[in-house]
Amino acid sequence: MLSDIDLAAGGVEMLDPVMGMWSKLTRDASRHSTHFSQYFREKSWEERKGELLNKASRGPLRIDIATHSGQELGFCISSVIDGAGEVESLFVEECSRGRRVGEALMQRSVEWMKENGARTMAVFTVYGNDNVLEFYAKQRFRPISVMLIRDA
Ligand SMILES: CC(C)(COP(=O)(O)OP(=O)(O)OC[C@H]1O[C@@H](n2cnc3c(N)ncnc32)[C@H](O)[C@@H]1OP(=O)(O)O)[C@@H](O)C(=O)NCCC(=O)NCCS
Repeated sequence: MLSDIDLAAGGVEMLDPVMGMWSKLTRDASRHSTHFSQYFREKSWEERKGELLNKASRGPLRIDIATHSGQELGFCISSVIDGAGEVESLFVEECSRGRRVGEALMQRSVEWMKENGARTMAVFTVYGNDNVLEFYAKQRFRPISVMLIRDA
């Protein structure tokens, strides 16, 4: 466990600083996705940032960045719109996993969502990334449905 994780928090002004880690997150998603590797490979930061800015225009958006001695360990993006909280993105650098950074980010996110009026809290995860379900179950998030998608 890391003894001194620093957590910095902010709003949309902290989106660009997480771009590099977000790119690693989408590469991870592409690797794990059973049917949509290409979708995640082709997803651009500009597109994702646009979606998040749109959400920020409809409710509070929060970015948490975890560091240790100035080194970035991971990040989490959370939103609340009309009482619906969502963990938008969660990522911990590979070399820092298993040291409770993810747990610290999730706990901070859940507290923030509650403080901002969330009556429900959700997180979407890539179909095929089954391992992560155990991590989320430990934070009391459990699967409710599976969304199926096809191109138009
Ligand atoms: C999922 C992720 C955020 C976990 O972060 P982490 O800092 O390694 O997790 P922690 O050290 O805080 O783990 C907390 C608990 O979850 C468990 N856990 C963490 N990752 C796990 C995994 N992949 N499979 C099973 N259990 C896991 C830990 O063993 C620990 O359990 P314990 O309380 O019984 O000791 C991190 O592995 C990651 O960024 N993965 C790639 C991106 C990703 O999948 N993000 C989620 C997208 S929706």
